Amino acid sequence: MTMIEMTLAALGFALLGPAQGLPAEAARVRALNELEARVSEPERLEHAFAVEAIMVALARRSGGDRQEWALAGLLHDIDLAKTRANPSQHGVAGARLIAGLGFSDAVVHAVRTHDDVAGLPRTSPIARALYCADRGYWAVRASASDTGTSRQRSTAEPPQAAR
Ligand SMILES: [Fe+2]
Ligand SMILES: [Fe+2]
Repeated sequence: MTMIEMTLAALGFALLGPAQGLPAEAARVRALNELEARVSEPERLEHAFAVEAIMVALARRSGGDRQEWALAGLLHDIDLAKTRANPSQHGVAGARLIAGLGFSDAVVHAVRTHDDVAGLPRTSPIARALYCADRGYWAVRASASDTGTSRQRSTAEPPQAAR
């Protein structure tokens, strides 16, 4: 990769071709730029960063590819605005989007299957980890804000509007 290509990649330009194969830092910058172009709510971005961090920890524990697992965490809800009117497409639309940007098949599969709404099987460790990281985040959030009256309901369910 030339210096010009590295600079453009660091700035997140997609005209360089597939994101797959970029150096880790450039791939993360590309992913973050794509995410921030579509998701602006601070709470959603906080969720993406938290799930990214959980995925890094899980990759370390289970021998997963740190870069791939982090990207899946960061990008998993990239289609939220696009699928708000049609939640059954959540994950599927995001997977289509990031596939078009050239992220790896492993990341695409994890994003496609991360939510139960699509009803698709999670056939890889990265996909199962992403499901757990996403659910775990909402469970912790619910537990932290539990006032005692809501203890009867499941804390593993993300709010419908906050997947
Ligand atoms: Fe989601
Ligand atoms: Fe999520």
